[in-house]
Amino acid sequence: MEKALAQERIKELTELIEHYNYEYYMNDTSLISDHDFDLLLSELISLEKEFPEYASPVSPTKRVGGNINKNFRQVVHRYPMLSLSNTYSIEEVKEFDSRIRKLLDGKPFSYTCELKYDGVAVGITYKNGMLYQAVTRGNGTEGDDITDNIKTIRTIPLKLKGNYPDDFEVRGEVIFPWAAFNDFNQQRIANGDDPMANPRNAASGSLKLQDPKEVAKRKLDFCFYFFMGDNLDISSHYDRMLEAEKWGFKCPKTIEKCNNIDDIQHFIEHWDKHRSELPYATDGIVIKVNETGLWDELGMTAKSPRWAIAYKFKAERVSTRLNSIDFQVGRTGIITPVANLESVWLGGTTVRRATLNNADFIQKMDIRIGDHVFVEKGGEIIPKIVGVDTTNRDADSQPFKYITYCPICGTTLVRNEGESGYYCPNEDGCMPQQIGKLEHFVSRKAMNIDTIGSERLAMLFEKGLVRTPADLYDLNKEQLVGLEWAGENKKRTSIQEKGADNIMEALELSKQVPFERVLYALGIRFVGEVGAKKLARYFKNIDALSQSNTMELAMVEDIGEKTAITIFDFFNNLKHLEQIVRLKKAGLQFEVHEEKVSNKLDGLSFVVSGVFNTFSRDGIKQHIEQHGGKVVSSISSKTSYVIAGEKMGPEKLKKAEKLGIPIIDENKYLEMCN
Ligand code: IVH
Repeated sequence: MEKALAQERIKELTELIEHYNYEYYMNDTSLISDHDFDLLLSELISLEKEFPEYASPVSPTKRVGGNINKNFRQVVHRYPMLSLSNTYSIEEVKEFDSRIRKLLDGKPFSYTCELKYDGVAVGITYKNGMLYQAVTRGNGTEGDDITDNIKTIRTIPLKLKGNYPDDFEVRGEVIFPWAAFNDFNQQRIANGDDPMANPRNAASGSLKLQDPKEVAKRKLDFCFYFFMGDNLDISSHYDRMLEAEKWGFKCPKTIEKCNNIDDIQHFIEHWDKHRSELPYATDGIVIKVNETGLWDELGMTAKSPRWAIAYKFKAERVSTRLNSIDFQVGRTGIITPVANLESVWLGGTTVRRATLNNADFIQKMDIRIGDHVFVEKGGEIIPKIVGVDTTNRDADSQPFKYITYCPICGTTLVRNEGESGYYCPNEDGCMPQQIGKLEHFVSRKAMNIDTIGSERLAMLFEKGLVRTPADLYDLNKEQLVGLEWAGENKKRTSIQEKGADNIMEALELSKQVPFERVLYALGIRFVGEVGAKKLARYFKNIDALSQSNTMELAMVEDIGEKTAITIFDFFNNLKHLEQIVRLKKAGLQFEVHEEKVSNKLDGLSFVVSGVFNTFSRDGIKQHIEQHGGKVVSSISSKTSYVIAGEKMGPEKLKKAEKLGIPIIDENKYLEMCN
């Protein structure tokens, strides 16, 4: 096609598709069949490929995702992303109202009430009517650039209409509507993955995906809640929200203008009662002073504006009978008591089971079989028992006797001092622990051997082929082909030639997984992803780590005394050392491969405290290590320097001064490295 013609057709297709998209996603009107729409879209995709010079950065083709994001770029927010102070009662809201009235000293004002959308906060900048950049909250000062992922959300306009400001930022929450979230979880269950606990976590995970095409499939939505910019003419928050609808944003229909506390109370009561009818999750309401001109006057507290406040709904609570208690054994041997309940309807689902946390919890609450218990849904997928109705107790009920033996392997349970629950110490002979450890080892954030799911692992375990992580690396293709097991719905399933190849390939690939993840994969009690990262950075290799003592371990940031002891014990167990030798032999990474920039800080140890201008907190730590220094979390006489940023902790300052440790700022530190 000729260039001029292509340019013309790209323009025509873009306008058509934008129009159909707008009608479909904003007005629920379908003007064209899916098939015809797809034809137009694929024509535009191929034209943009052939004539990239005419492809707009806000083309509707961006809705389906483009390039992969390897790493999200860090972007400093033009306006910091703050949070809101929370209230939990109407009395506290009344106090907020009195504060505002006092501060405004008779000036007329009104409020807006909105829902508090339970999603992920993002700031989206528009320049000259085009979506320019979208950034996550991050630490409030800087966040991840997730522009490509945000462009896939259909209710976020890529190009604005009407009389919009030249340069402004819209803030809002990316949400996962219930219907889409439930479909997504069904899909996860079908693939053998655990369902996500709530739409917020699922939305957050989706925005961190590297492939925008995957994000596009998730059917996320966006609720915006305010605008920021230097020259916004409209002086009422409510009017801004309505005006933004004319620019192409979908204004939440639930927003209301309120004149006094009675209106606010009415709004709260209405939505507390009706929130379960909403198509998305909300955890409260947000009350804002409507007159934006008063926002500056009211100002800020340390973390949040004085002109707004959140009211959080109480969790829904029901009462039901506790029929019996089961005990689950986790991968680290922890015993978790689980309540079997008389089924009851709660927050959109039927609840039959609830967690009872641990032995202490049952004892403290004096929970007994046959009791009527109160159940709430928190942020987790499994509901919690939050109380017992002792007025409704059978006369002959007896205090619950906690088990003393492992329900699976019969080993006597142990309880460490200071811990609230029991665990089974038979870590190498208790099946759920062994399988749990293997599942953890292959999981995505650990070795990411995704071709061996839970079912296959259980089968390999049962057949005696894999009992420990190191056994995985002794597998060969011939052993795998033809292995059979009863899969979901008792259907016979077997590993084919291709499946075996995939497993061998994934195992081979896992040998490139960096040391910090291998360390996490080992499943040391209390050592999570972050702890593993910090340990790997500090010790650099497994030999240094395994030979360290608890004192040194506790010097590492995020490693407390309790964790230091479990790490020490882990490396003093011969079975674990034998595993490590075998895994090393198999070719797994047991040392950090870091690009060292210089040796300038060799032998020096640093404590960092406060906020820095040139670096993020993790950034400065990495910088120290790249120049050969060590980062430790607490100040001791061995610390070489304390690098102090703004708002350095007063305790640290006192301690450094007491021990005579030099305190330097980031500029001085940079001089040392250069
Ligand atoms: S206004 C200065 N309005 O809740 C912050 N926030 O806990 C002004 N949120 O940071 C925020 N719904 O991420 C506002 N209707 C709403 C909201 C809302 C959800 C989030 C937002 C905020 C957090 C505060």
